[in-house]
Amino acid sequence: MAETSAAAASALFEQAYGGSQAGLWAAPGRVNLIGEHVDYNAGLVLPIALPQRAYAAARPRADRLVRFASAGLPGVAEVDLDDIAPGRPADWSRYPAGVFWALRRAGHDVGGLDLAFASDVPIGAGLSSSAAIEGAAGAAVSDLFGLGLLADDASRAELARLCQRAENEIALAPTGGMDQAAALRCQAGHALNLDCRDGAVAQIPFDAAAAGLVLLVIDTKSAHALGDGGYGARRADCEQAVRELGLHSLREIAPDELGAAVANLSNDRLRRRVRHVVTEIERVRRSVVALRAGDFALLGELFDLSHASLRDDYEVSCPELNTAQEAALAGGAIGARMTGGGFGGSAIALIEAAAAGAVEDAVRAAFAAAGHARSPACLAAVPAGPAGRIA
Ligand code: GLA
Repeated sequence: MAETSAAAASALFEQAYGGSQAGLWAAPGRVNLIGEHVDYNAGLVLPIALPQRAYAAARPRADRLVRFASAGLPGVAEVDLDDIAPGRPADWSRYPAGVFWALRRAGHDVGGLDLAFASDVPIGAGLSSSAAIEGAAGAAVSDLFGLGLLADDASRAELARLCQRAENEIALAPTGGMDQAAALRCQAGHALNLDCRDGAVAQIPFDAAAAGLVLLVIDTKSAHALGDGGYGARRADCEQAVRELGLHSLREIAPDELGAAVANLSNDRLRRRVRHVVTEIERVRRSVVALRAGDFALLGELFDLSHASLRDDYEVSCPELNTAQEAALAGGAIGARMTGGGFGGSAIALIEAAAAGAVEDAVRAAFAAAGHARSPACLAAVPAGPAGRIA
């Protein structure tokens, strides 16, 4: 798979621009183990990078144009560096174009570039295909213009922050920073415990296979659009709660202060939103302890609690995600939850390796029985490395 997409990016480059690429870069999609909708609340998250990645073949230009080709999409999009602005370009290329904009805003000297992308991160599956594109573009630009932003974790954190700016301010998607940090800062064999309050990270060893387990990603193939208002509405709820409580962020509420805090909120919806955020951050803390102790039973329990909280208090699940979660548990999973932003996308299930096939079958059967339009796609997630140069 990976070689196919890497080769596809290079072949597309030649076809779109002629001549040879100066190099090939890649950045991974991610799956979040736990810590959902807490990154924009200065919380804690725990993603892993996937082996699936977006590849970018690139070559500098002598002028101020950036051009983008993407496997599977017709034509080549182009924009002058000075014309990149909020909502501009209007098509998909605003994601990589935004990275140029954010780098320039941060004072980096970048010029024109020809880029060709191919990706094996499933699109619309909640596995951060757009952050993978941003990360691959950012890695290529950094290397080709000598910015050194892949040199160490601190530089990678800076590039991740700029990729998030690109997504927020140019692509106009109001996301937190988890996905870009995962693409740039995860390490193979580890989950990334990112503290979104200050950007600090701890690498937590995560080797499901060694424990006889599989982390199954179940792509529900159901509609998922972060821009459709649901995500922004949740952020707005959190911001209102912060204002009503006179805080800087919901992170400031300790678990044992939750009751007192929610008593001061103006309505029940905000109470449930805050309860999710505060309890979810605590579940991330407990998951890190569980992982360090090899206590996968506890990790599974925390997955289940996270799902219930996202479904009932945060209201970002959907019928397909609930079917996947419930069927995985009924089929023998140790724990399961929706992952990513929700409203469709993917669920994850932690399963004894011997039971993985049975769980997959149970999920497929449950989708058919529930009459969901599309059959889910499953992949076993293995924690892979971050964005970098391939060739
Ligand atoms: C999306 C966003 C992330 C994060 C998750 C929910 O993936 O891009 O920033 O908020 O949803 O945890």
